[in-house]
Amino acid sequence: MAANIAVDSHVWVEDTEIAWTDGVVLNIKGDEAEVKTGDGKEVVANLSRLYPKDVEAPAEGVEDMTKLSYLHEPAVLHNLATRYEIDEIYTYTGNILIAINPFQGLPHLYGVDIMEKYREASFKDTSPHVFAIGGVAFREMVNEGRNKSILVSGESGSGKTETTKMLMRYLAYLGGHAAAEGRTVEKQVLESNPVLEAFGNAKTVKNNNSSRFGKFVEIQFDDLGQISGAAIRTYLLERSRVCQISDPERNYHCFYLLCAAPPQDIERYKLGDPKSFRYLNQSSCYELDGVNDAQEYLATRRAMNVVGISENEQDAIFRVVAAILHLGNIEFSKGEEADSSFLKDEQSAFHLQMTSELLMCDPLAIEDALCKRMMVTPEEVIKRSLDPHGAAISRDGLAKTIYSRLFDWLVDKINVSIGQDPHSRRLIGVLDIYGFESFKTNSFEQFCINYTNEKLQQHFNQHVFKMEQDDYQKEEIDWSYVEFVDNQDVVDLIEKKPGGIIALLDEACMLPKSTPETFSEKLYQTFKDHKRFVKPKLTRSDFTIAHYAGDVQYQSDQFLDKNKDYVVPEHQDLLSASKCSFVSGLFPPLSREGSKSSKFSSIGARFKLQLMQLMEILNSTEPHYIRCVKPNNVLQPAVFENANVLHQLRSGGVLEAIRVKCAGYPTNRTFIEFLNRFTILAPEILKGEYEENVACKWILEKVGLTGYQVGQTKVFLRAGQMAELDVHRTRVLGESARIIQRQVKTHLTRKDFILMRRASVRIQTSWRGKLARKIYRDMKREAAAMKIQKNLRRQLATRAYTNTKSSAITLQTGFRTLAARHEFRYKLKTRAVTVIQAYWRCHIAVSEFKKLKRASLVYQSRLRGRIAKRRLEQPKMTDREEEEEEEDKGHEEKSELSNNAEDSVDKAVVVLHSDQSEIAEKATEASPTVSEIMIPVRDTEIESLTVEVEMLRALLQVEKQRADISERKYVEVQELSEGRRKKLEETERRVYHLQDSLNRLLYSMSDQFSQLKSILRSPSMSNSTFTSSPVVRDDLADSSENSEASSSDSDFTFPAPSPTSDSFSAFNPNQLQVIVQDLSTSETKGSESYESDREGGFEDYF
Ligand SMILES: Nc1ncnc2c1ncn2[C@@H]1O[C@H](COP(=O)(O)OP(=O)(O)OP(=O)(O)O)[C@@H](O)[C@H]1O
Ligand SMILES: [Mg+2]
Repeated sequence: MAANIAVDSHVWVEDTEIAWTDGVVLNIKGDEAEVKTGDGKEVVANLSRLYPKDVEAPAEGVEDMTKLSYLHEPAVLHNLATRYEIDEIYTYTGNILIAINPFQGLPHLYGVDIMEKYREASFKDTSPHVFAIGGVAFREMVNEGRNKSILVSGESGSGKTETTKMLMRYLAYLGGHAAAEGRTVEKQVLESNPVLEAFGNAKTVKNNNSSRFGKFVEIQFDDLGQISGAAIRTYLLERSRVCQISDPERNYHCFYLLCAAPPQDIERYKLGDPKSFRYLNQSSCYELDGVNDAQEYLATRRAMNVVGISENEQDAIFRVVAAILHLGNIEFSKGEEADSSFLKDEQSAFHLQMTSELLMCDPLAIEDALCKRMMVTPEEVIKRSLDPHGAAISRDGLAKTIYSRLFDWLVDKINVSIGQDPHSRRLIGVLDIYGFESFKTNSFEQFCINYTNEKLQQHFNQHVFKMEQDDYQKEEIDWSYVEFVDNQDVVDLIEKKPGGIIALLDEACMLPKSTPETFSEKLYQTFKDHKRFVKPKLTRSDFTIAHYAGDVQYQSDQFLDKNKDYVVPEHQDLLSASKCSFVSGLFPPLSREGSKSSKFSSIGARFKLQLMQLMEILNSTEPHYIRCVKPNNVLQPAVFENANVLHQLRSGGVLEAIRVKCAGYPTNRTFIEFLNRFTILAPEILKGEYEENVACKWILEKVGLTGYQVGQTKVFLRAGQMAELDVHRTRVLGESARIIQRQVKTHLTRKDFILMRRASVRIQTSWRGKLARKIYRDMKREAAAMKIQKNLRRQLATRAYTNTKSSAITLQTGFRTLAARHEFRYKLKTRAVTVIQAYWRCHIAVSEFKKLKRASLVYQSRLRGRIAKRRLEQPKMTDREEEEEEEDKGHEEKSELSNNAEDSVDKAVVVLHSDQSEIAEKATEASPTVSEIMIPVRDTEIESLTVEVEMLRALLQVEKQRADISERKYVEVQELSEGRRKKLEETERRVYHLQDSLNRLLYSMSDQFSQLKSILRSPSMSNSTFTSSPVVRDDLADSSENSEASSSDSDFTFPAPSPTSDSFSAFNPNQLQVIVQDLSTSETKGSESYESDREGGFEDYF
């Protein structure tokens, strides 16, 4: 170490209080180094006692301490302390698991989820845990067919029993039956723990639940890896505790449980306060913190049921327990005769009576068996009385014997009940045995316990170091010897035959005159030169053995008594005669030979034999080690006492194991085993014929490992190399498994897929059908709605159209009437004018005619006069010529006149023709009359003309009158139409008012509907409500305007088109809402089209 240390190096330095403390080297002088510790002190230490500190070590510590950069005591201690601080109680040192007692529940460490995690993950991938050890053991047992044992060791209170229980729980989980119902083997195995703890555990100064016996549970598995049976072996129950306890310890739990039993049980067993029983009241401790004895009693009963102990048997068991308590209260007084004794008082008599009742024995026989002894001599059998002390020893002996028989019976019963699998070829044994003990007073029990631990340590050494190094030699591999502490000499000191301590003790027991002193003397003499045996000074019977874990001084006073393993015949006879079959069953009658030989059997020898058998089993299995460590003596969580832990690590061989392991080849496998396991890494080997060692090398080279050794029959691997190979193997196996899985999964998935596809197609079909039906239904409803809407709209449009049409017709009618009246008036006027014109022309024509007539008359008269004159002057020729001249002139005048008359008549005819056809006709008719005037007018014609003129005049008169009447009527009609126009205006105003109020009503209704709609329907619909109303109103307003406009020009009225309230009254709100909503847009459009239609209509009309 020293070579690594320089000034400023971080080091570990020894500390009297906390074992090791860290510091920095300040100075080095020769072999001495000056170190400044973490708490500021400066110390000087020898360089050889300083250890380098890894400043880069992970803050949370390392899981496997063989991986520590600097592997030494302080580093190990620091690593464990660091992890313990964060509740990481498990740490590996190679394959050994170190479990530090947390002294508090850590449920997160032991849940089913954690079990599952450890079941699936490989050892390498998981953090240290008791389940990981159980899992490895289980997997290797199942996969490689190797029997396994898990050795849980540690000092009292370090957590062995708890760890064992966890292990068993996990193994039961791994090898349990799937549908575990009723009493399965694993349940029985697990429930055997509380039963055995109730009868074999007690509170000690070191542990509130200290196992006072050793236990090896052999769990058997079938070929499928399921638990098929189990066997529980127990070792050396501490019998003395039944009668003797020291303060503040307790007797076995079952006594206190029974005293806290339900009242009827208390009554049945005549029990009471534990303080009233001598076997319990020697200590002031009756109750345990956090333990309810009454509940524990019931729990124990339940566990007994599970493991297969019947109610009757349970009753008998507790009767025996109660009897032991009563037996302890029987006291003796000195009798009248020398060395005799009798019952001390009434109380003792009562307890004797109770004992006899509970054990179903004769009370006198009990008293006899306790106070008297039979002496068998060759001649006779003598009955000797015992003094009170002897009687008390006899009583306690009886109590111890009964209790130990009871415990053995329980173990046997559990074994029978669980049952062993005779066909099982695989097993995992779990050993929970008392740890190394060293008290102030160490008796025979401590001797046996420490002997056991020596044996186990030897097994550990053999496995970890010795066997390994022997193997190296045998296999002729290149290795350097690693020193280790071998305890074979201590084991020999104890068990060697002949000459070992146990042998000498047996010898002493067989000699009637032996005393502790003679026995001790014998030991001193025999082992005076033994380096492991020391005779302490100032003692006469003590001896000290230098155990691997430290020196222990034993007091040999009780060794002889405690080693004697026989039942006093009186006691045997008494109890085998019990009327209770259970009690008599505990003491089966012995055969003669048996009784003789049993007298000389010793506990030591029996225990040695048991241990040998145990070692045989352990040697036939592959061991896994769990070292339990007790972090403090105050049994408190989160207290880590360095010195204490360090002592346990040293004595448990953990540090030694680390050293040796790392130096050597911790893993080895025979060629066959290796090839069986790893050929998978180089399958090409199988094609050729190679030597086994060559094949092994091939594999190792292929994987790329270095530093391994190949021996004669085995491959030796450095620490971690096996794990590395396993990683490769797992990878290859995993790859293969994946391929297989892939194929199988593909197949299964495809099957599933096809099924699912079919199912989904079905589902889709039905869904689509359903959907289509729904769509169809919706479409139908939509179509129906459309139809309804269409009809409604049509109805509304029709109504609107009808209204408009009727309005238009009314308007047209009005306008047409107006036009007709205009025309009529015009015609009337025209006719009147024509008539007037006719009359006028007639008048003019008549005047003309009259003038012409007069002129013609004048002319005619003048002509006639001339003619007459000429006739009268006829004989005168001159006159004739004159006459002729006159005649010519008259002729000319006459023709001139007639021409004038013709012109006038033509003019009159033209005038008459241009004015009026009728009159023209008449004029034309008249013109011939006029022309006829040219012709010599006849009086008749003139008269007729005159008549006609008169008629015409009369006609003219009549026409004039008619024209007046018409004129008058026209004025009247005008007045009438003026009146009507006013009426129309009045009506229109009213209609307008009516429409206005109607619109207001519609508005208010529209508001109400929109409110209603906003309540009932989605907001999107509210926009469209009653947009129709303003349209209607606008229309009406327009039409009223039109009507107003027209009415101003017209003198007639027509009904204003207005929507009737019927259109709305027929709807209920919902319908209206729907209709209003649906129509709103269309009506807006409709109103436009209506408007345009209407306008088109008007255009058509006008
Ligand atoms: N893993 C654990 N989790 C919680 N508490 C534990 C654990 N291991 C031990 N303990 C506590 O420590 C106490 C002592 O443990 P346990 O009885 O197993 O010790 P032991 O080694 O069997 O002692 P002994 O040799 O006296 O029988 C237990 O009663 C329990 O309170
Ligand atoms: Mg225990």
